Amino acid sequence: MRNPFSGVKFGLRGSGPITVEDYRKLARRKLPGMVWAYVDEGAESLTTLRANRDAFSRWALKTRVLHGSVVESMATTVAGADLDLPVFLSPTGLTAITHWTGELAAAQAAERAGTRAVISTAASYSVEEIAAGTSQSHLFQLYPSAEPTGAQRDLTMTILKRAAAAGFTGMFVTVDAPTVGNREGERHQGMIANPRFTPRQILSAARRPAWSADFLFRRRVSSPMLVEDGGSAVEAVQNQGQLLRPDLAWADLRRIRDAWDGPLYVKGILHPDDAEQAVACGADGIVVSNHGGRQLDHAIASLDALPAVVDRVGDRVPVLLDGGIRRGTDVVKALCLGATAVGIGRPYIYGLAARGSAGVQHVLEILRDEIARVMLFMGVSDVSQLNRSMLLPAGQAQFEAAPDALVPEAVGALR
Ligand code: FNR
Repeated sequence: MRNPFSGVKFGLRGSGPITVEDYRKLARRKLPGMVWAYVDEGAESLTTLRANRDAFSRWALKTRVLHGSVVESMATTVAGADLDLPVFLSPTGLTAITHWTGELAAAQAAERAGTRAVISTAASYSVEEIAAGTSQSHLFQLYPSAEPTGAQRDLTMTILKRAAAAGFTGMFVTVDAPTVGNREGERHQGMIANPRFTPRQILSAARRPAWSADFLFRRRVSSPMLVEDGGSAVEAVQNQGQLLRPDLAWADLRRIRDAWDGPLYVKGILHPDDAEQAVACGADGIVVSNHGGRQLDHAIASLDALPAVVDRVGDRVPVLLDGGIRRGTDVVKALCLGATAVGIGRPYIYGLAARGSAGVQHVLEILRDEIARVMLFMGVSDVSQLNRSMLLPAGQAQFEAAPDALVPEAVGALR
């Protein structure tokens, strides 16, 4: 295993970013309000967005001392890809709006860090461009489209064929977007299908000349997977309409399963019954996710949903998680609760917006350092050893025997 403490370091005098939150602050300064709202906001009152973070604080880690074991492996496998790090890049659409190098730079950074990126249907780079610019096989994320009517072509099958031809083998099918979440922050900022440029937006962009120059001259604002060669951004937006499927059903998943030979994971599952159905439809893995709090506000936090899904299907298929991961401790807690790996969405975008590909790599290296340190404090040499017995509900006393045995008789009598 590579030295976990040998991450890329920025800032000779320790003044550079050293946490994901540092990258968040840097990214915020780089991006106009409209783009920042797209990245960092969520649905409605942001309850689920916040719940994703809060859920991690409800668990404490058990530390062990003098165990003599060093960190040996963080390796895991996701959809057929072997990773050195149990963290991958979750799919995000239109990523080049934050930094023109977009998903390609992110996938290259993931490779350098020993992991992989999941490339969205709505990515700003096509699967062909990603394949040409990387040396590993990355994963593809599909938004299923509506069944074609009349002379319409079958967008889902066209996209799947392109992904397979470009060498993608692992796929995530995202099922939690029957319609777009009510992201009021984005709407207030005019980040909608046909963006509105108010004087406030123009001023916000003008104050970020580097971003504005890239936006105007690099012209990376479309979703090339949604158009035939040479298709326009307008065509992409029109086709995107076909992706929001209010009538999406299990039969659609079966149709996609039949059309895809490689490992297929279903992303956006929170209920154990849905996990069961997905496995019955042939899913090879489940991604517990609420889309980073961008779809149904007041949906359960990803981490809170994880144990029941693991209990239901974890003996048959791997269960992954994304949503709210910002620290190595978060990764370790999710793995203790049964995830085999976790995805990061916003954290990698913060790195990308702040410092391009090097920023994404640094975010991954920060997480690697943090995970390694946590494992050492816990006496765990391999991530595969992490399990539920290593966690305790935060704020709750630890008992050697069952708590009841310790209750004084007088208290017991009051019961
Ligand atoms: C997303 N997400 C997402 N998911 C997906 O399946 N396809 C997509 O195109 C997108 N697009 C997207 C854009 C942006 C800007 C964000 C922030 C997120 C959801 C993403 O894959 C993941 O589930 C969440 O981002 C995980 O939460 P964190 O890590 O951002 O807290």
